[in-house]
Amino acid sequence: MKMSKKPQFSRRLEGVSESATLKLNATVQAMKAQGVDIINLTAGEPDFWVPDAAKSAVIEALQANRSKYTPVPGIPELREAVATKTNRQQMSLAQEDLWKASHVVITNGAKQALFNALLALLNPGDAVLIPSPYWLSYPEMVKIAGGIPQFISAPLSQGFKIQPQQLENALNFQVKAIILNSPCNPTGAVYSKEEFQALAKVLSHHPAAGNVWIISDEIYDRIHFGRIPFCSFLDAAPELRDRTITLNGLSKSAAMTGWRVGWSVASEEITQAMIIIQGQSTSGINALAQWAGLAAIQLPEENFVSQIQSFKQRRDLLLDQLKNRIHLELFTPDGAFYAFIGIRYYLKPGENSIGFAQRLLEEAHVAVVPGTPFGEQQFIRLSFATDPKAIAEGCRRFSQYLN
Ligand SMILES: Cc1ncc(COP(=O)(O)O)c(C=O)c1O
Repeated sequence: MKMSKKPQFSRRLEGVSESATLKLNATVQAMKAQGVDIINLTAGEPDFWVPDAAKSAVIEALQANRSKYTPVPGIPELREAVATKTNRQQMSLAQEDLWKASHVVITNGAKQALFNALLALLNPGDAVLIPSPYWLSYPEMVKIAGGIPQFISAPLSQGFKIQPQQLENALNFQVKAIILNSPCNPTGAVYSKEEFQALAKVLSHHPAAGNVWIISDEIYDRIHFGRIPFCSFLDAAPELRDRTITLNGLSKSAAMTGWRVGWSVASEEITQAMIIIQGQSTSGINALAQWAGLAAIQLPEENFVSQIQSFKQRRDLLLDQLKNRIHLELFTPDGAFYAFIGIRYYLKPGENSIGFAQRLLEEAHVAVVPGTPFGEQQFIRLSFATDPKAIAEGCRRFSQYLN
């Protein structure tokens, strides 16, 4: 008889969790397959279609056989277009500091840009500061890259944002980077220019901050609702240009999640390091997706206005449906397409948001994402990137369930 021996995998995976959202999605799909009528408020992607210009561009590129390997950091046209877009968002940069194609790496979604950055920066034991709540992949990626995630609490009472004094207290010589994310997943919090400037001041002057890199994840840049305009970190802090890596992509802003078009924009030195990593891992992204991405990034802003208005109306609908539940802790998101809601009052003794989300799914047939993997045990995330009827019905069931 064969002895069954536990396979030995890399220690790199110790303490790294699988994606909680993907796992939950599997349960939802299984219940749906059994015919259960589920209202799904877990979506991490817009429910709009890919722009027609991107569809035409991909067909054209395919017919013209533009489907061989591309340069590792991407086709020059797309790198150039990303540099132009970023310069438009970072108007405070001095003329000689403006971005060029050579500062851009096109990646398999913003996710790979973040991986490239962490692998290029971290040595074992380096700490990475992460405001909490956070997008659930940040700490896991930091761990895979050999780093240690260190959290700075950004509670609801602070509008889910960190204060300069907290950053001051968190910095020490072990810290190699900080990950900022505005608009934020899961909270929808948006940092104003002044708030970023206050954080930048600490990152410029703190005695232990001189070698700290700023990774600014701006993937939700287009999705904000007017109260606080989107501010790219370097527009607030051009003096930190040489140690900031700006991440972005088309997944959320152009509804192109499956195309996997993201990028990093950073100084040439770190860009070269990230190109080495990408060259030895993926060799760059799908050629055809890059042509589609080029068409999408060149579309005028007006093309997306109705999508943003629609997200805003859905946000208002969701909050309106829940506002009478006085024991829910509600926060009005200024960007992204999630409402992060406190459910402390409704938890059973010893229960956290995972148990609550499970009950809600099984008993009320509403799927939401528990806050636990985002760093908040007593919150849940409701996505409003779905049809208003589903939002209204989901809120009705949720509200009734709380009775
Ligand atoms: C904050 C944040 N950053 C990055 C990503 C990854 O985006 P992409 O699809 O471009 O890899 C996501 C996706 O959910 C996200 O929410």
